Amino acid sequence: MCGIVGYIGKRPAVPIIVNGIAKLDYRGYDSAGFAISENNRFVSFKTKGKLENLRKRIHGLSFSGTRGIAHTRWATHGKPSEKNAHPHFSHKKDIVVVHNGIIENHTALRKYLESKGHHFSSETDTETIPHLIGMFYQGNLENAVVAALKDLQGTYGLAIMAEKENKIVVARKGSPIIIGIIRTGEYIVASDVTAIGEYTKKIVYLSDGDIAVLTPKGYQIFNLEKKEVNRKIENITWSLDAIEKKGFAHFMLKEIYEQPETLANALRGKWDARRMMPKFGGLNIPEYDINNLQRVIILACGTSWHAGLVAEYYLEKFAGFQVEVEYASEFLCKMDDLGSRDLVIPISQSGETIDTLMALRKANKFGVYSLGIVNSVGSTIAREVTGGSYIHVGLEIGVASTKAFTGQIMALYLLAIYLGRVRGILKGAQADILFKKARALPGLVTEIFKNERTIISIARKFKRAANFIYLGRGLNYPTALEGALKLKEISYIHAEAFPAAEMKHGPIALVDRKMPVVFTVQKDDGYEKILSNIEEIRARKGIIIAVVEKGDSLVRKKADYIIEVPGTSMFLSPMLNIVPLQLLAYHIARLRGCEIDKPRNLAKSVTVE
Ligand code: AGP
Ligand code: GLU
Repeated sequence: MCGIVGYIGKRPAVPIIVNGIAKLDYRGYDSAGFAISENNRFVSFKTKGKLENLRKRIHGLSFSGTRGIAHTRWATHGKPSEKNAHPHFSHKKDIVVVHNGIIENHTALRKYLESKGHHFSSETDTETIPHLIGMFYQGNLENAVVAALKDLQGTYGLAIMAEKENKIVVARKGSPIIIGIIRTGEYIVASDVTAIGEYTKKIVYLSDGDIAVLTPKGYQIFNLEKKEVNRKIENITWSLDAIEKKGFAHFMLKEIYEQPETLANALRGKWDARRMMPKFGGLNIPEYDINNLQRVIILACGTSWHAGLVAEYYLEKFAGFQVEVEYASEFLCKMDDLGSRDLVIPISQSGETIDTLMALRKANKFGVYSLGIVNSVGSTIAREVTGGSYIHVGLEIGVASTKAFTGQIMALYLLAIYLGRVRGILKGAQADILFKKARALPGLVTEIFKNERTIISIARKFKRAANFIYLGRGLNYPTALEGALKLKEISYIHAEAFPAAEMKHGPIALVDRKMPVVFTVQKDDGYEKILSNIEEIRARKGIIIAVVEKGDSLVRKKADYIIEVPGTSMFLSPMLNIVPLQLLAYHIARLRGCEIDKPRNLAKSVTVE
């Protein structure tokens, strides 16, 4: 949520920081702004809305300042407006700040500062930060920052400058800050590595409680007690190609089409033929402890939570666990104690979702094992789990998650088979069959793309619908939930998902001749029952769109529209069935003229609670 970029060095800062936030604008696009130091005086520009507006505002202007900070905002306190856009200044305008996160005690701080004669220019919680730093400032920025941070409650990723000192100070608590080392004396800082990769592959992740000072002479990291701390320099491994659309109209479409490749990546090198089980490099749990575990608690939000619901079946069936799939934020409300027989699995694409991070931290206090299923390498969740597996789907830029969803499910499928083998629940031959079936999946996803025309024609018919219902049973109930979420997120059509049989307990009252009802039908034990559910909708004149296994003539007779997917096992079906639903949401949103990669009100990683 929100993008932060800062630069200090010898080159003009503006092109670097503006280019940097352009790479992050999927994280927030309510406003954009920057401040640079031009001959020891601050110069700042801010505009409401997308970065393009800021670019237009500064078009034709030239800036020579070699130190600056920039921000794209995802508003939490105060509406999206120029006045509320970051950067924000201190009372004397000699300190400037960009912020990611929420200052929870901002009301009390503002009251106090106003009583001291401070005048505020915005409605944001953030503005209390520069005012507070300004109050403590006596010529040394880091000292004033340390003093101010002690009074702040909440979360922050911060980049701060003082007008008269040639330095940038950054700090983090809850929201990520990364330093990119271009060369000694030339640094780029950002809330996300995406903004850094073009300038350097050498990065340093700050930990919570860290404060760093960057100057043209070097950088230093210390904690709130002003004790120096060492953080290791790491290398970015992904390539910049990932940030290009490669001929696709949107990142979302490109990412949907990448799924055959990302699923193949998830499987590559993962089979231990000798032990007849998947292999994992970094789980960090000895096998005797795996045998002792009884319960798995999955912690996640949004799409990742849907992947967790699918994994519940895998972990119960293949590995004999009792499984609870918790919304991370709700887990925080619960009082339960965790113990040595519990395993926690946080799932997160970004690895920075604060709800999931806070839930993980709560779990970690009980000293349990935690296995992260994460996409962003080096992210905070990946660093705070005891072990885990990356899903290796590459950068996901579209705000609506697609390839991360199928990548998470595949990683969890393999993890459950591995755990099942260690616990003696699956035999080698059974694991072998499960793995071989998964190997066929990338090719099957490619076949689905041949049906895109059918999906587009359905999208044309329903692009003006006001509501949609999605129904599925068992493993495909999460598919229905995810299909509905995709549609809501990018087309703004109201969509709800229910377990297919649950529909008759209330939601069926919504069905009339205008209601499209999307079924995901799998030829499993519940097939006959879902056929009855289709009849029940037909009897109420609802419009039936069914995602079915190729050759399913029974559903074909009953449905108004069908989208065929190749047959696979019940366990793998969510990874196939979701693909047409991703495409359906995409094409409906495109035909409605929506901003697909940056839907309104959303941000890619949600780093506020
Ligand atoms: C997905 O389309 C959403 N934008 C959102 O629900 C997302 O899955 C959720 O915020 C969790 O994000 P994470 O996987 O990065 O933790
Ligand atoms: N809470 C701050 C605001 O609303 C920061 C939001 C962000 O992370 O972009 O301005």
